[in-house]
Amino acid sequence: MRTLLTSIAVGLCAACGGGSDRPDSNSELDVVPGGGTAATFATTEALSAGETVETIGVSSEGHLLVVFGGQVHELDGGALSARSLYVGTGDPEAMGAVHRVAPRIGGGAWIGAEAGLFALDDLYTYKVPLLEDAGAIEDAIDISGGALAGLWLATPAGLHRRTGDDVSKLEIAELTGAAHVAIAQDGSFGVAVFGDEIATLEPSADQILVDRPPLDTGAINAIAAGTDAVYLGTANGLFAFTAGATPPWKQYTLAESGSSEVLALAIDGPKNAVWARTAESAVVIEGGAITSFSMTGQGTMSALAIDAFGDVWTANGTELARSATARATQSATFSADVLPWIQDRCSMCHMNQTQNFEDYEVFASVAESALSRVRSGDMPRCTGGLRCPSEQRLEEADYLVLEQWIRDGMPE
Ligand code: HEC
Repeated sequence: MRTLLTSIAVGLCAACGGGSDRPDSNSELDVVPGGGTAATFATTEALSAGETVETIGVSSEGHLLVVFGGQVHELDGGALSARSLYVGTGDPEAMGAVHRVAPRIGGGAWIGAEAGLFALDDLYTYKVPLLEDAGAIEDAIDISGGALAGLWLATPAGLHRRTGDDVSKLEIAELTGAAHVAIAQDGSFGVAVFGDEIATLEPSADQILVDRPPLDTGAINAIAAGTDAVYLGTANGLFAFTAGATPPWKQYTLAESGSSEVLALAIDGPKNAVWARTAESAVVIEGGAITSFSMTGQGTMSALAIDAFGDVWTANGTELARSATARATQSATFSADVLPWIQDRCSMCHMNQTQNFEDYEVFASVAESALSRVRSGDMPRCTGGLRCPSEQRLEEADYLVLEQWIRDGMPE
């Protein structure tokens, strides 16, 4: 039986006592004004869920997950397949409202819901026994390495971290009640939010140091983490925190004057980009460049997800919309486009007796995993089958043909 180890209190609170030792707050924050370059999506397709969409997210494989009718559905070959709730002895009959769908290390997803923590594997959703009080779960963030490794859980009672089978509660002075949390994907720092109060989490030896930055965010609507930054979607635009950077905080106003409210956030992991949903647009910040895609007429529901292809998903009532940024317009076929690319870049290692990528059937069966490996820089490998140094990774333009072909339905 798993136990709840209450209150491993942590932290030096740098802002305790009013923060008088804090330097001028301007040195903590860079303001980046402006709405960025205006753009329109190359394609937008609609898909109907048939019932009102509650929330969306992605699995660790980058598949879209859609919650409606009390069930999780996975986009599988262009159609939504239910991943039914498996109810064992003593398990709740329903998940209740779903608050967070997040990738799970080892595959599938974590589902944070009113009735507790659930996990999605290949075919089912099932309850994960966790806290003795089994409260609602707002966030479930799985971090594989770094000083902050573990499964981070935010509940109405505060912030918890599960490592192995132990769950401990993190008490932060003066901050109580409903928490949200995001941890940088390398596990090196994080941010917790209690209402509109922010606490940064930075590991130091065996402790986690907590700081309370004096930022004027207004309401905090969303929180998400990329590889090297934690983002807050707020009434005053997008805030980004990178521990150790100077200054550690950036505020993107996303507007020419004043600031645009951010309703939802999503991370494009392979590109290390963050997407923010405002009432009028979907804005992406990638390598410092801000691009704003118009979303007028598509509702303002705060649901946003980025799948393995980098496609942007939003929801509005019962409708899902899948939008793609610029892509090649011609459709690609295996024999004319993909095969020469494979011969050029993959065959030296992948044309053997056990697996021949030059065979259509063989390659089609691994195509999606091939794309995610190429995007993440895992393939192609360098000499000795080792991962290539990052400067030798393929650029997006180098594998556009693979992306295009998969989107076109993998024609032979
Ligand atoms: C220098 C050798 C090398 C090159 C070049 C290479 N790979 Fe690989 N690939 C490997 C090795 C080694 C593995 C097995 C390691 C693993 O699974 O982590 C692998 C595994 C894979 C797998 C998993 C196979 C499966 O059955 O699931 C995919 C998919 C893949 N590679 C795609 C590609 C693609 C696409 C290219 C070309 C763009 C490519 N690789 C180029 C060495 C290479």
